[in-house]
Amino acid sequence: RGADDTGGPFLETAVYAPRELDEATGGAPGFANTPDSDPSLPANRDWAREIHERIADSTLGVSTIDAARVDDADTLESTIAGVREAAALWGARPATERAEVLLRAAAALEGRRGDLIEVAASETGKVFAEADVEVSEAVDFARYYAAKARELDAVAGAAFEPARVTVVTPPWNFPLAIPAGGVLAALAAGSGVVFKPAPQSRRCAAVIAETLWEVGVPRDVLALVDIEEGDLGRELISHESVDRVILTGSWETAALFRSWRPDLPLLAETSGKNAMIITPSADLDLAVADLVRSAFGHAGQKCSAASLAILVGPVGRSKRFARQLADATRSLHLGWPTDPLAEVGPVIERPEGKLAWSLTELDGDEKWLIEPALSDDDPTGRLWRPGIRVGVQPGSRFHTEEFFGPVLGVMHAPTLERAIELQNAVEYGLTAGLHTQDPAELALWLDRVQAGNLYVNRGITGAIVQRQPFGGWKRSSVGPGAKAGGPNYLIGLGSWRSSGSGT
Ligand code: SER
Repeated sequence: RGADDTGGPFLETAVYAPRELDEATGGAPGFANTPDSDPSLPANRDWAREIHERIADSTLGVSTIDAARVDDADTLESTIAGVREAAALWGARPATERAEVLLRAAAALEGRRGDLIEVAASETGKVFAEADVEVSEAVDFARYYAAKARELDAVAGAAFEPARVTVVTPPWNFPLAIPAGGVLAALAAGSGVVFKPAPQSRRCAAVIAETLWEVGVPRDVLALVDIEEGDLGRELISHESVDRVILTGSWETAALFRSWRPDLPLLAETSGKNAMIITPSADLDLAVADLVRSAFGHAGQKCSAASLAILVGPVGRSKRFARQLADATRSLHLGWPTDPLAEVGPVIERPEGKLAWSLTELDGDEKWLIEPALSDDDPTGRLWRPGIRVGVQPGSRFHTEEFFGPVLGVMHAPTLERAIELQNAVEYGLTAGLHTQDPAELALWLDRVQAGNLYVNRGITGAIVQRQPFGGWKRSSVGPGAKAGGPNYLIGLGSWRSSGSGT
């Protein structure tokens, strides 16, 4: 769902028909996602224990990121020029060769699964299971975009001209999957990459870059550039040699980038304020479990997180539902990622501003079903027991603003129609959920809901490459709107030569 319109001439007929394309290119039909680690296997438990022991003293990526530091404009300038030059050769290589490099990257990322989990946990506080799924997603991106590069080449051939320089500016909250996805997409399309890590997850970026260099991505095609986000950041984004910028971050950052360079070719996935509607026909046990996971996974620091539950009719009056929701939330094991049992970890830094407000203050008649609480023995101010605020009113701060932390708001609606109005009455449209067992309710919701990723009877985070291409609508997306992990994403990373007929 959403504006998946990249404007290329081939899309509807060809790129949306992967089976035919697979036959055309000799590729294997279908796509199987990479499994996450199975904690029930004894060997995996030993392996996980070793990783947990390494997290506290991890130094992975340090020397690589130190070497990638750029502090002056001249070095930045020559790095961009170097990528531009090297990308001409990379883009001219047959797509099958680039695809082979990506498949080697997939194997290498899988091979470094433990290192990647370690560095994400150590640097951003992500707990083991949340980091593990990111590695699977990164591997999927490599394999999926390898296949798409071959298909694009088979369909478009010389009519598609890759971008020469793509800047990838990922966030810290998915420090593995999102940067890997952006970098791999650009490389698959035939573009060079300037990879600018988020300041909070620089070592994660370094380990990803190391892994890709080791399997044959030339260092001047993929330049890791660690810069301050001041003047040099502005220079990078506004640089005339930059053909594309892949941003995952806030809507405000996308607007800032555009203010620096109004014609900036931006592919941005931005903020969200996502709600899950639960109707009286739903399987309420399942709904509670999905809601709690979607709200508090990675301490709520996901653009896709469930920030609101909208309870329809009697669900909102059900004491049993409220008790189950509270019990399920209290039962989550809070801990640092060094704790093997941790399910909810720390927030990235001591809360300030609107996040601090969301954890400590209430609007109007709102009440705490569970008041968020700082862990007793936490001197850093980062480890918060998740909270639930009930009585959130239409148009209130909590209804409309993104907070990005471990707090869920609960609203009531007399009917599904009204619940959908409340779900849509925000500026963003990233993810949206519905729990129902009534086909008529589902049909109504599908007709009206305004969000890029729709989930029915499932949690609303954790989109899966190829099955659930990920991207937003309204203020959750800026740019052509093609979704990451979907069939058209690579097309946004190049342009159509005007001489190519493309029909
Ligand atoms: N892809 C992530 C998710 O679906 C968010 O960026 O949760």
